[in-house]
Amino acid sequence: MNPHQYAASHRDRFLDELKTFLRLPSISTLSEHAADVARAAQWLAEHLRSIGLDRVEIVPTPGHPIVYAEWMGAGADAPTLLFYGHYDVQPVDPLDQWQSPPFEPTVRDGKIFARGATDDKGQVFLVVKAIESWLASSGRLPCNVRLVIEGEEEIGSTHLSGFLQQRRQQLACDAVLVCDTAMFAPGVPSLVYGLRGLAYLEVHVRGPRRDLHSGSFGGAVVNPANALARIIAALHDERGAVAVPGFYDDVRPLDEQERRLLASLPFDEEAFRRELELDALGGEEGYTVLERLSARPTLDVNGIWGGFIGEGAKTVLPAEAHAKISMRLVPDQRPDRIAQLVARHIERIAPAGVRVRVETLHGADPILVERDSKPMRAAARALAQTFGREPVYQREGGSIPVVAEFQRLFGVPVVLMGFGLNTDGAHSPNEHFHLDNFYRGIEAVVRFFEELAGAH
Ligand code: BES
Ligand code: MN
Ligand code: MN
Repeated sequence: MNPHQYAASHRDRFLDELKTFLRLPSISTLSEHAADVARAAQWLAEHLRSIGLDRVEIVPTPGHPIVYAEWMGAGADAPTLLFYGHYDVQPVDPLDQWQSPPFEPTVRDGKIFARGATDDKGQVFLVVKAIESWLASSGRLPCNVRLVIEGEEEIGSTHLSGFLQQRRQQLACDAVLVCDTAMFAPGVPSLVYGLRGLAYLEVHVRGPRRDLHSGSFGGAVVNPANALARIIAALHDERGAVAVPGFYDDVRPLDEQERRLLASLPFDEEAFRRELELDALGGEEGYTVLERLSARPTLDVNGIWGGFIGEGAKTVLPAEAHAKISMRLVPDQRPDRIAQLVARHIERIAPAGVRVRVETLHGADPILVERDSKPMRAAARALAQTFGREPVYQREGGSIPVVAEFQRLFGVPVVLMGFGLNTDGAHSPNEHFHLDNFYRGIEAVVRFFEELAGAH
């Protein structure tokens, strides 16, 4: 039996095992789930052992553990691939919008619904099953593999870089594979060559020492919620650009060749708008929707609160108001510099009568990868054979904090080959993964190992 036949004949078991993985509520950001995150790491480590990987380890960190495993039996002449993924997931709220409970995986219309289905447990698991398909059918893999699967991606990969730095020698590799991105469209595989970075701020606006009667005090006391709204409104200009001086200083402009590449992608702006049930799209003038979504930096409010939000009307002038604001970054913007720039700007434009404090949360560096490295070409061949068409090359708007660290520490090509779809509902209610993409993902990764070894 070859690995493809093995994978094809074990589809039902693979799906059952994925369901077991998805039942573990490994929400990294909520401390009450810390034990569940640890259980997910244990389950995964045990599973990796059971398929024949060596040196399986659960590496503790001050936060959530990292799962490591390897198979180095292909020998020193074969290339070594380091696979990176994450087993932690996002919170599930709003819970009442899920059609089936987030941690009771359910198959409907060829999709598996559960938190983590596409981001990233389903994608981690398809790589694990590709490895199993080789080992169980042939007793070997064409290349050496190391797996680093972390539990803190969704909270900024806080402790991963320490681990990578410490083990830099031990983790030596010729290429890195990440399966945590989306395909361009159903049936259209893609290789992602750019990811945006992130800078995340929390803004606290404080006014009077206590909440006040808005009749007795309103008019003469600056309202922190009004002040916050004014601050936020001033962060963009009327052309949709970010109005913070210096914000664009380090942005590498898109060259004509890349603009043509992005424009040639089969993207339908109208269909994109309709699917979201919007009557218009927004954003920065002078750029196409795809450019705005992936190659231009942004600033967005992620949450805003303060004052009375209960039922009915309460006439109150709140003592404080807050917002979470994040910026998506593109090369060569740096998260620490942008966070500082925006924070200082917010403090500067705050009206008299309120005090503003800006706190910096996590960040991530933006990245671009070489489009025609050997590993990228191997991935392109594997995708073309699996999907019956050449992959497209695209940038994506999301962030994977550790990718820049891989580039810095190992200096080897990084392949971002994902099998999700942007409509899979990552971070949203009813997250799902198309089973076709799960099974094709296994096939593509089975081929990738072979193509990578062949090209070495
Ligand atoms: N898998 C995503 C990253 C992603 C999203 C890649 C969309 C391509 C397209 C990842 O799990 C994620 O959600 N990352 C966070 C990073 C943050 C918490 C530092 C993100 O992008 O918000
Ligand atoms: Mn992810
Ligand atoms: Mn995510």
